[in-house]
Amino acid sequence: MVAANDIYLLRNIWYHALPSRELKRGQVVAKVLLNEPILFGRTRQGQAFAIRDICPHRAVPLSCGRYDGDTIQCCYHGWRFNANGQCIDIPSLMPEQAMDLSRFDVPRYDLKEVQGNIWIYMPDGDRHPVRPPRFDVPRVPGFDDTQLPAISYTMRFPCYLDHAVVGLLDPAHSPFVHRSWWWRSDSLNEEIKWFDPSPYGFTMRKHRMANMGRAYWLIGGVPHNEISFYLPGVRTEETTTDQYRVVNLTTVTPITEDQTDVTFQFYWHLPWGNVLKPLLPFFIHSFLKQDRDVVIKQQQGLQYESVLRLIKDSDTLARWYYQLKQEYQRSQQEDREFVSPVKTQQLKWRA
Ligand code: FES
Ligand SMILES: [Fe+2]
Repeated sequence: MVAANDIYLLRNIWYHALPSRELKRGQVVAKVLLNEPILFGRTRQGQAFAIRDICPHRAVPLSCGRYDGDTIQCCYHGWRFNANGQCIDIPSLMPEQAMDLSRFDVPRYDLKEVQGNIWIYMPDGDRHPVRPPRFDVPRVPGFDDTQLPAISYTMRFPCYLDHAVVGLLDPAHSPFVHRSWWWRSDSLNEEIKWFDPSPYGFTMRKHRMANMGRAYWLIGGVPHNEISFYLPGVRTEETTTDQYRVVNLTTVTPITEDQTDVTFQFYWHLPWGNVLKPLLPFFIHSFLKQDRDVVIKQQQGLQYESVLRLIKDSDTLARWYYQLKQEYQRSQQEDREFVSPVKTQQLKWRA
């Protein structure tokens, strides 16, 4: 049993912030992540950065100001900050009033930009000292760090992070939630899969796909499939045939306690990929909307019921998610190595 009202978000961990293409050179983007207002920017030279989106003078969001591709100037009294969050100018000061401007620096965040995505390291609230990341940002397997996604689509779910993650990991909901002609029929099949622990998560061992969604025929032949999950809410699904590779990267990022962004991306080596591109947003939208719609219904019930039941084996992935999260939290609090609660196991379910 899990208490649905036990709400906490992991810290000292990398979260997916936004796709790189949403942050253009010489521009800024304001976004709330984990209840923190953050100003993302990209300098004229192309370097992405993130600082707290609050002016330390009188708390006006810096995103309301003017960015010249180098420094951001607050719209209220014109204080200026650079990409490191350092306060570099207070226009109202007389020459003889020079002072140590570093008292007014705004906090900056560590970012990593790989494979067309910007990841942000969210430290503890007090930030002192900032603990270095224990693990790197997840990579889309089979592609190098410069590879960009072919397609990227984000949808906001009106729920707490855990409900979005558990919904996306859940193997038993497909026949009831994803009823689309292009995906699957509604008869149930037996699934038997091996799972292994993997860094900060687990992996469904690579297997030949038997009961696959119809859309997979698009990549030709009978493919192999491998799915990995990483904390705090990242899933990669690799589908390969002898010649082709398609990887779906799904990232889940908490905006506030009851708003969560789900970003769905595809990476591929497909010669006819460009033909699919205009169609895919439609399919992704209707697929994610099915997940979102059921989560919205769940929100209605959660107002009255705070206990979630997890059964074997179909809810084992959800159980692992809660255990992984708890272990990450404890290992941080106790300042020790993370010990995976996941053991190699075969799981069986009907879906
Ligand atoms: S509030 Fe930003 S400069 Fe005064
Ligand atoms: Fe789903």
